[in-house]
Amino acid sequence: MQYPDYRPRRLRRNENLRRMVRETRLDPADFIYPLFLVAGTGVKKEISSMPGQYNLSVDKAVEMAKEAHGLGIPAVILFAIPEHKDPVGSSAWDDKGIVQKAIRAIKSSVPGLVVIADACFCEYTDHGHCGVMVKGELDNDASLENLQRVAISYGKAGVDIVAPSGMLDGFVGAVREGLESEQYDDVSIMAYSAKYASAYYGPFRDAADCAPQEGDRRGYQMDPANAKEALREVTLDIAEGADIIMVKPALAYLDIIRSLADEIDLPIAAYNVSGEYSMVKAAAQNGWIDYERVMMENLLAMKRAGTDMILTYHALDAARLLQ
Ligand code: PBG
Ligand code: ZN
Repeated sequence: MQYPDYRPRRLRRNENLRRMVRETRLDPADFIYPLFLVAGTGVKKEISSMPGQYNLSVDKAVEMAKEAHGLGIPAVILFAIPEHKDPVGSSAWDDKGIVQKAIRAIKSSVPGLVVIADACFCEYTDHGHCGVMVKGELDNDASLENLQRVAISYGKAGVDIVAPSGMLDGFVGAVREGLESEQYDDVSIMAYSAKYASAYYGPFRDAADCAPQEGDRRGYQMDPANAKEALREVTLDIAEGADIIMVKPALAYLDIIRSLADEIDLPIAAYNVSGEYSMVKAAAQNGWIDYERVMMENLLAMKRAGTDMILTYHALDAARLLQ
């Protein structure tokens, strides 16, 4: 087929023609909404580097979860800033911890909503690294033991999905083994499999108070230069029992999403991270871009690249537009 016999513009002439040939559609069911929990009650404090996102006490988080559910969003993912930090991050596996409380509260007030809990230590350690540090290095295997404790305490609280995010070697297997050992075999694992050492996490580290005091995360998170390594990481996580694998960040890593979507048959999640969100917000606040159109274009790009679900701070805004 060639011009002038074939004219691609024929099918772009009006919105209904365009709708008929549209290849990708967004739906509220595509989104997972992240919530940042803090201690107290009645707290809803805007995060300065993430306009429109809040630090929430458990009661306010329940309200947000209800709102998300009402908009057709199927899941939330929980992060918390604990009251106490220590070198190993022990409050992460406190059965009365903030995340554990929020899991119970959300599951009882909004039973249909899927509750995912991020499992890591950087919010809980006084040094801000994602596990136990020995001589300035992350001790992988000691951290795995603690990670199992976290997974079990989330299981006890009634979580639907545990999402280990520390990029420790063997972290998915450790979570699976921990869950199985206590008969939480119906809890899924969403593995942060291809998580890159990215500068796009900056605003999140304010929100969750989890920036490393010294050094960086390049010794455990992936080098942004590497693509083949993502497949290797994902293959390991699948063998260890992952139910969903994740690519993070999303926008600068659409090539990784596409290649994994072509290669593997597990559901793929993409994390549209804090820096990606805040750049759009900031430019829109300056009047430089149209917030709604850029947001939808970005989310559509992630889905077109092959992701099945998107963790995004835009979830409520986008779902509202799609009603
Ligand atoms: C912690 C964690 C981070 C994010 C999710 N879990 C930050 C990090 O690894 O430094 C980033 C999320 C975002 O930027 O939106 N392990
Ligand atoms: Zn971490």
